[in-house]
Amino acid sequence: MFAYQFADALHTAERRGLDRFVSMQNHYNLVYREEEREMLPLCDREGIGVVPWSPLARGFLARPLSELTATPRGERTSDSDRMSVYRSNGGDETNRRVEELAEDYGLSMAQVSLAWLLSKDSVDAPIVGMRSVEHLEEAVEAVDVSLSDSDVEYLEEPYEPKPVTGHS
Ligand SMILES: NC(=O)c1ccc[n+]([C@@H]2O[C@H](COP(=O)([O-])OP(=O)(O)OC[C@H]3O[C@@H](n4cnc5c(N)ncnc54)[C@H](OP(=O)(O)O)[C@@H]3O)[C@@H](O)[C@H]2O)c1
Repeated sequence: MFAYQFADALHTAERRGLDRFVSMQNHYNLVYREEEREMLPLCDREGIGVVPWSPLARGFLARPLSELTATPRGERTSDSDRMSVYRSNGGDETNRRVEELAEDYGLSMAQVSLAWLLSKDSVDAPIVGMRSVEHLEEAVEAVDVSLSDSDVEYLEEPYEPKPVTGHS
């Protein structure tokens, strides 16, 4: 959903005396950050909870480039249009940096990627795609991981704007 559409929906609900929307489920992760332009500032201003989906970019942010096709889902999605968007405009370099910080801190790549998302004040809770109990446990541990400002800056640096994907 575009931010102007959500602003319309909030306004319409208010004008008609209907229940207010309280949360936004949107597409947001380290390699797809277009939501930072309009939607996240709108949600901040309106006090709307943000619950992003695909926080690990379908697994792209959870393993090194050399292992992207190492799982059944990875094999299925590695040449999809969405994966091309994730990999484009700095995406592959971001993946390498996530891997580097994960090694430095003794964390998994999934934990570094989730810690980055949780460092954002706008974000309330990511919807992680769990495939195993280990994935769940790692995600829970990521809640206690704090990245420094310079880590966050390092992870964000390669990103360049991308076409809107995940809604139209
Ligand atoms: N509202 C909407 O429009 C919308 C759209 C899309 C999705 N969703 C919801 O969002 C949910 C999550 O989306 P998503 O599955 O794309 O999320 P995601 O968290 O970006 O990706 C999940 C994938 O990351 C990998 N992974 C997760 N934890 C890991 C860990 N600890 N270590 C290594 N790899 C890990 C797994 O890949 P492998 O399977 O390859 O191991 C898993 O399939 C969906 O289930 C759906 O319910 C909502």
